[in-house]
Amino acid sequence: PSKRGVSLAWVTLSDKGARNQREDKSGPLIETLVREKYELAYARGYIIPDEELQLRQLLVNLALLQKFDLILTTGGTGVAPRDVTPEATVKVIDRRLRGVEQAMMAASLKKTPHAVVSRAIAGTLGTSLIVNMPGSTKAVTENLEAVLPAFEHTIAKLQ
Ligand code: MTE
Repeated sequence: PSKRGVSLAWVTLSDKGARNQREDKSGPLIETLVREKYELAYARGYIIPDEELQLRQLLVNLALLQKFDLILTTGGTGVAPRDVTPEATVKVIDRRLRGVEQAMMAASLKKTPHAVVSRAIAGTLGTSLIVNMPGSTKAVTENLEAVLPAFEHTIAKLQ
């Protein structure tokens, strides 16, 4: 991140959220939690349906055109038929960050055995750090807590 702070894009994957049939609490929570730890230069949120192509296009746009430092997704990491977040993410990233994935899983398993269901991916695309998180506000809190302290160093290394 520059002296001006970190630019954050959050993306909520939710069919119901995208249709305005469900209030999205997880996306705004991401922004609140990142803001508590880092100075935010700019933040923007997106709510899209669980559509792989749409997410791939959005991630490429956010990373390579808009050049956000940090792109955090929430939802669609599990094994429900419509969950496609990991498939979209793994297809667009340049380099995978297994340490970020493993840190989130280790912390999550201390909270719930259901953590095993998340297939969340982390990686880099251009100069952006992309990290998937599960959909609930509880999962967002627990996963971000585990990796947020490492984000500044990771983003600085990408420049
Ligand atoms: N990780 C943490 N830390 N806390 C949680 O409550 N929920 C799990 C898992 N990971 C959870 C978690 C559950 S119940 C599911 S189904 C998977 O994340 C996938 O969630 P998603 O499909 O909303 O992405």
